[in-house]
Order: sequence, then structure tokens, then C-alpha cells
Amino acid sequence: MENALQHIKETTLDFLRSRFKQIHGFDDANREMLQLSGINDFFLTEQDFQLFLELLEPRPKVADTTMRREYGDFQTPPNLSKTVCDFLLSYGISPKVLIEPTFGKGSFILSAIETFPMLEEIHGVEIYEPYCWHTKFAVLELFIEKPNLNRPSIFLYRNDVFKFDFHKLVEITRKQEMLVLGNPPWVTSSELSALNSTNIPTKSNFKSHNGLDAITGKGNFDIGEYIILMMLNAFADHTGSLAMLVKNSVIKNVLQDLPNTTYPISNLVALRFDAKVHFNASVDASLFRCSFGSRSTNGGSASGGKAGQDQLTCKVATLVSPQSIESEFGWVGNKFVSDITAYQETQFYDGSSPFVWRQGVKHDCSRILELELIDRKLMNGFNEFVDIENDLVFPLVKSSDIQNSLIVTPRKFVIITQKKVGEETTFIAQRFPRLNRYLSDNLRFFSERKSSIYNGKSPYAIFGIGEYSFKPFKVAISGFYKKPFFSLVPPYNNKPTMLDDTCYFLGFDNQTQVAFVLLILNSEPVQKLLRSLTFLNAKRPYTKDILMRIDIHKVAEHLGFDRVRDKGLADKLPESILQSLTREKWVEFLASCENVSQTKSQYSLFKQPSSISAGIVS
Ligand SMILES: C[S@@+](CC[C@H](N)C(=O)[O-])C[C@H]1O[C@@H](n2cnc3c(N)ncnc32)[C@H](O)[C@@H]1O
Repeated sequence: MENALQHIKETTLDFLRSRFKQIHGFDDANREMLQLSGINDFFLTEQDFQLFLELLEPRPKVADTTMRREYGDFQTPPNLSKTVCDFLLSYGISPKVLIEPTFGKGSFILSAIETFPMLEEIHGVEIYEPYCWHTKFAVLELFIEKPNLNRPSIFLYRNDVFKFDFHKLVEITRKQEMLVLGNPPWVTSSELSALNSTNIPTKSNFKSHNGLDAITGKGNFDIGEYIILMMLNAFADHTGSLAMLVKNSVIKNVLQDLPNTTYPISNLVALRFDAKVHFNASVDASLFRCSFGSRSTNGGSASGGKAGQDQLTCKVATLVSPQSIESEFGWVGNKFVSDITAYQETQFYDGSSPFVWRQGVKHDCSRILELELIDRKLMNGFNEFVDIENDLVFPLVKSSDIQNSLIVTPRKFVIITQKKVGEETTFIAQRFPRLNRYLSDNLRFFSERKSSIYNGKSPYAIFGIGEYSFKPFKVAISGFYKKPFFSLVPPYNNKPTMLDDTCYFLGFDNQTQVAFVLLILNSEPVQKLLRSLTFLNAKRPYTKDILMRIDIHKVAEHLGFDRVRDKGLADKLPESILQSLTREKWVEFLASCENVSQTKSQYSLFKQPSSISAGIVS
């Protein structure tokens, strides 16, 4: 309460001092506050009221410097919450009941009171007591300054949103136009577990990922997404809408999971705003808005799909120009895409890759396992020269190296301790004594690896390794970069080059095959397809799931030998490779694609149908 009163103007405090000079009883105080502010049970206890009287005495201000990372605390500046409410009003939204699931310092509650003249009831939840006081006094101040404003009945619950029973509000809201409004916490479940925080829903694996997916990050979710789903669960079949400020990745995830739900929502829109300006946060974020009560169906609109099917798409514009729709993303039939219009031109190539994409090697011990060649000697990440046998040292390419069509010389080397995942590493001691001494001298760096995938494995275990890692010719892409650029990675000094785990690659036995694949992947149709599938604000826009959707065989047949061979890109490969790209080799290449495709489809006959998940991007 002390902090909240620091934010109240001196004129408001003077007003309160004069009103409360004669009020000494707790019930009278709450009656007075209800009359002034519309807030029910303003003081929860007699002590609260006595503290309030004490704090009304003049005192010096103290700075509020609390860091609240685990609460995803980014309070909405009043100008932004007002812009959002004005936009909603202009859109014809004028609720009678408002729900703010994590109201913080009350920015949205205050703006809603000022904007929506029909408001009769407000229900807000917030876990942090100082913010509850802050909001109460800010609402009180608003009505003292503007006594003629419409005064709804306000219920502010100090509670944990994950424990609060929103269903108890369902009856109040069912027959009235309602609005769920706010800005839920900006924090992910994995950030919370790194902070050992308990501010997490008990059903934390709510997407039901299996153990490995949960460990490797697919089970990670944003608290904002969880709260949106809680709201849809409770209120989507009401009359009204939802409008929340969230990261773009949250909106994408909500859309992606919609086919697995029956929430009756429609008119989905994401209106971008500058999170750096408003929250000093370097993240892409938008106002996510949708209407409750019905699920729109497809009538042959831009989003494609059969007429009568659910239309699960979201339009994209900006909060400053909400009418100028820039693009639309979501589901086209059973495929999830980032740009529906661009996708219509390239969907022919969206299928299944004849070759299996792989992620590079993961070891989480780069200072020991990654080496550089300095004066013909190997040096590790601690700038120590390393004297080891060369047998298990392989050339290494990382994301930052993937910039040219051909990577001739590797910048780094990596010690590969296993040929496949789970292999014993005892052979190192028997065959490579100097390497064994180097690894055992640095054993503690392996033991300190945080990821639980290393638990119970041999001490020098690595992941993302298999027969495929030792294929001599590779074509690789960085998962992190915005532009989908592919490089040819040949062997170096007769050793296959490894990729690190920020990269994805296809491995081949011969140079012509890899060169054809490289030219196809860097061709315009594939680049366009990838642009229509990927969400560039994702940390890793290119994933194995996305890359597996490129039907290299179809693109090859459609482009034909002359266009592949004559592309401007082909000129960037050395003459020695270009000369080997003959028409005969092309025919062989097409046949090899077909063979792999046939083997795959015969194999898939014995597998369970993979349903809609085939189109899901991770
Ligand atoms: C991103 S801030 C936004 C606050 C407010 N909605 C606004 O727009 O300014 C998120 C708020 O969620 C609150 N919060 C975090 N975890 C919570 C929980 N488990 N239950 C209720 N509120 C929570 C934080 O204290 C913080 O005030």
C-alpha cells in the first residue's frame, strides 16, 4: 500500500485526507470507498484501513526497484492501453462485463473505465499485493478527478490466476456482452524452471508432450499462451471477445493448436506494435483479438480449404493502421503456413522430402570438444594447445559459416567421441591414450553439462550423431538465420565435415547428387515456399519439420535440368563441380529421388496414419 500511495498525486491525497478525517470505522471506510470508486471490499481487513490512515500522513517518497522476472512483469503504459481500448470501441466493442486476468497496476482497467460507457462490472485478478493497492488507489484517483465517469461495480481479487476459479464468473458473464482484456505475463515455462520458480500452472505439460520432447524444448510454453487458453476455455462460448497483448510466438502457437480444440472463436486478428518502444522488450508482439460465440467456416476464401471447413486463420496488421491487412497466416486445409497468399503460389511443392533432414551434433562442451588450427597445432576454447591423436578430430561447420554456396575450408574442428547415440566411449582409452588423457583431465566440464539428456550416459556422450553424420557430401542450412540459404559442405582432407546443432543438413555419397540438391534448394520456388511456411520471429525459423516439407523431387521435375543448371547460383560453384552436372547425371538424380520416395511410401504403409500433425510446424 505504501508504494501505491507514492504514485498518487498530492491533490488526491489532500482530498482523501479531508474525506477520511471523520471516518474511523472499517465498514464506514469501505462504504466510502465503494461510493468513491465502485470497488467492493476496498480494505480487506481492519489493519489495512489503519495502515491507510497512517500512510495518509505526509512522508518522503522511496523508489520502486523490485525486479519481478518470474512474474513476466511488463506493465502496460497508459497510452498503449488507451489506444487498445479506443481501437476496440471503434471496432464496435462495448462490453458490459470486463475480465482482466492479471491486472498489475491496472492500466487496462483504468483505460476501460474511461473508454467503455456501458461497463457494469469489472473482475480482475493479480497475484502481487502492492499492485492490487496500486490499482485500487489509481481507480479511486480517477473517479475523484472525473466524478462524472460511468462507475461500474469493481471486484479486484488478490489471487493466483492459475488457482482462481474463472468458472465462478461464467454465470455472471453468460448473458452479457463481455470482454477479456489485458496483458498476461511475458515469461516461458523453461525460463521459470531455470529460475526455480513456482509461478507456473500445475498442469505444466499441458500440451501433453512426451518425455523427450519435453526435455528438448517442445514442451516449453509461454505463460501468456496458457492464460489465453484458460480464458477461451471459460468464456469462448459467451457473447463478446478477447483482446490481449502477447508475443507473436504466442499467437502462432494458439493458432497452431486450434484444430485440436473446439473453441468457438472467429475474426482472429494480430495487430503488431513496437514492444521496444512500449515495454523496452526486444521481441515481436501484437494485440491478439478474437470474437467469441462461433467458429467461422470457410466459404472458398483466401485461406483455401474446402467450403464448410473451419476457417482457422489470423489476419495481420498494425495497431496504428488496423484496417490495412498485410497478410494472413494459419491453416490451409491440414497445412500450417505463415503467409496464405504466398503459399497459394507454392503449395504444389509442399509435401514430403525424399531425403531425411538431420540436425547437427550436440555436445554442450564446446571449450573442450571444439578446436581451432593455430600454427598447425590444435587449440581448445581455453587457448590451450591440445596434443591428441587425429583420428576422432573432424572438420566442423557452424551457422555463422553458412554464407557461401561452397564451404571450402572449415574454421573449426570437433572431437567426435561416438559414432552413434548411446555408444560406449571406453574404446577411447584403449585406442587413443593421448585423447583419453585430454578428455579425463577435463572431465568436470562434461559433468557440468546441464541438460538432462546426458544423465546416465557415458561421460563423453554426444547427441545428433549417427551413420548419416559420416556421409562425405552435405548440404546445410542454419536454423537460426532469417534468410533460407543453403551451402554445400564437402569433405576436408578426406574426412566428412560435421555440422553443429544450430544447423540442419542432408547427407549424400556423391558430389553430383549434393550439387543438384543445393541448386534446387537455393532456387526461387523453394525459397518462396520456405518464406510462406516460416515464422521469422521464431528463435529457430527453420526446423527439421519445415525442411521435411520441401518436396525436392517435385521441384526438380518442375524446374527441369536446364533451369537448375543455368541458374545464376550454379555459377557460384567451381568449374570442377559444374562439369560433373551433366544431363545423364540429372536423369540418374531424378531416378534416385523416385527410388527413395517409393521406399519411403512403402515403409509408410506399415506405419499408423500420422493425421493432421504432418502439417504442423515446430
Ligand atoms: C505483463 S504484466 C501486465 C500487467 C497488466 N495486465 C498490464 O497490462 O499492465 C503481467 C502481470 O501478471 C502478474 N502475474 C504474474 N503471475 C501471476 C499469477 N500467477 N497470478 C496472477 N497474476 C500474475 C504480474 O504480477 C504482472 O502484474
